[in-house]
Amino acid sequence: MLQQPVNSNNHSTGFADKLKKAAMKSSQLMQLFEKALKDIYWAEKAMVKTIPRMIEKATDEDLAWALTKHLSETETHITRAEEIFELLNVQPEAEKCEAMVGLVRELEAITDACEEGAMRDAGIIAAMQKIEHYEIATYGTMRQFAVTLKLYEMVDLLDLTLNEEKACNEKLSDVAMNAVNIEAAETTDQ
Ligand SMILES: [Fe+2]
Repeated sequence: MLQQPVNSNNHSTGFADKLKKAAMKSSQLMQLFEKALKDIYWAEKAMVKTIPRMIEKATDEDLAWALTKHLSETETHITRAEEIFELLNVQPEAEKCEAMVGLVRELEAITDACEEGAMRDAGIIAAMQKIEHYEIATYGTMRQFAVTLKLYEMVDLLDLTLNEEKACNEKLSDVAMNAVNIEAAETTDQ
């Protein structure tokens, strides 16, 4: 009859392995978290340069107001990202975000292609909402990583930013529904 090899350390070795695997996974998750932070830090900085151009191009007062509000929130998002870098004990570093490069390019192309007025406003809203959705996805993922890594101070900071991104997206939807899309449709009908 086959005897199971006797290893008095079996139990503890298994536990040590599990701990080691968990530590490896959490360090990989930490790397992903840092990568996402550097990416969104770059993206937010790009938006601080882009939003003022959109404010200039917007006609609808509500849209210009929503963009102005979000510009100041975006500046705060940069500061919050720097706070997270500090909590991680990592030097703030922006890593070029190719997704944001594409989204901003699309935003600029739409606004350049439309004449001033309701159509251009509708284009700005559509492209800005894609940007907000990208930011919401990134911050949502980062928040989940931070929860898993038990970085609760960072979870709180990410929640603040995430809520402002969501509110901005909703405000843009309201502006589109209340005035801009109706006017843009009327412009097309004429
Ligand atoms: Fe944003």
